[in-house]
Amino acid sequence: MSVPGDDPDDDLGPLAARVPAALRGSTAYHVPRPPRLVAKLDANELPYGLPPELRAKLGAALAEVPLERYPDPQAARLRAILAHQLGVAGGQLVFGNGSDELIALLCSAFPGPILTPTPSFVYYRIAAIARGLPLVEVPLTPELELDEAAVEAAIALHRPSVVFLALPNNPTGTLWRMAFALELAARHPSTVIVSDEAYVAYAGVSNLPALAAHPNLVVMRTLSKIGLAGLRVGFTISAPAIAAVLEKVRPPYNLSSLDQRAAELVLEDGAAWCAARAAEVVEERSRLAIALAAFGLHVFPSRANLLLVRFPDAAATYAKLAAAGISVRSFGATGPLANCLRITVGTAAETAALLRAYAA
Ligand SMILES: Cc1ncc(COP(=O)(O)O)c(C=O)c1O
Repeated sequence: MSVPGDDPDDDLGPLAARVPAALRGSTAYHVPRPPRLVAKLDANELPYGLPPELRAKLGAALAEVPLERYPDPQAARLRAILAHQLGVAGGQLVFGNGSDELIALLCSAFPGPILTPTPSFVYYRIAAIARGLPLVEVPLTPELELDEAAVEAAIALHRPSVVFLALPNNPTGTLWRMAFALELAARHPSTVIVSDEAYVAYAGVSNLPALAAHPNLVVMRTLSKIGLAGLRVGFTISAPAIAAVLEKVRPPYNLSSLDQRAAELVLEDGAAWCAARAAEVVEERSRLAIALAAFGLHVFPSRANLLLVRFPDAAATYAKLAAAGISVRSFGATGPLANCLRITVGTAAETAALLRAYAA
């Protein structure tokens, strides 16, 4: 019998031949959980729960949602709130069940070679191979910076339909040159250039102001990193023409009524709270980076709510932290992220617990 993490293809029998080779060769996204959780620093979430007043308001608002009805497929109210906050037209927004789904929708709407630097966000890869699309992965430099010349060369060679740039990047935290996305958009009008700004709250920079000048640019955002990962609400901002194509492949009820109502309420009443907590995390990021560097560890420069850190023996460190109930992300012993752990920046108390466990 298969358990999560095992390769279930062995149990498929004659159906195994129906699974594309690229899928057979890949593993499902799996997040191990230590038996006792003291600090969850493995998924780049905000470490703070919503304040009690907002939760109470949310409880009352969600109780009124008519669950016997399908959700509003246009998410009209949420759309109006976000359009107003972002200063864009409603028709420029497309909503996804998290930005994961938008990545998949971009691959479906613009099928062709999908280009992404590597290592980067894993779902670009999954979304491409799940649709049988050629995946073009351009290695980062040894310092995990973007190799702009290599990206250009790969675009010239493979003529991708979509380029995904995570700005800042996950799992490295590094912020590549924002304007590179705009330059690519200008030079390659038949390619969709995605500026994935999942961590904009921690980076403070965006390509959104340049959107009007670039009809092939898509700015992608999510509510996941600012305290609402449990909701699954992401959105793209683009020219209306791109939004219209994405709408053709979007499952009509992809945002549940509860997601929509909760997102509306938090964006209206909790935006200042979210921004203040993100600012705290940015400060904590500096403290944690300094503390880890003081151990002589290599800490990659980060503009996201995470730090990528190279340890002498990441497997041993991972096990030691897990035993202390501290969950971080590991990447194995080989490849460009060998001996690296990705640590989400948590609260000051979580930083203290992490450092205590590491020093023990
Ligand atoms: C760069 C990047 N893009 C997109 C996502 C997906 O976010 P979600 O599906 O939660 O909106 C993540 C999540 O970690 C990410 O790191």
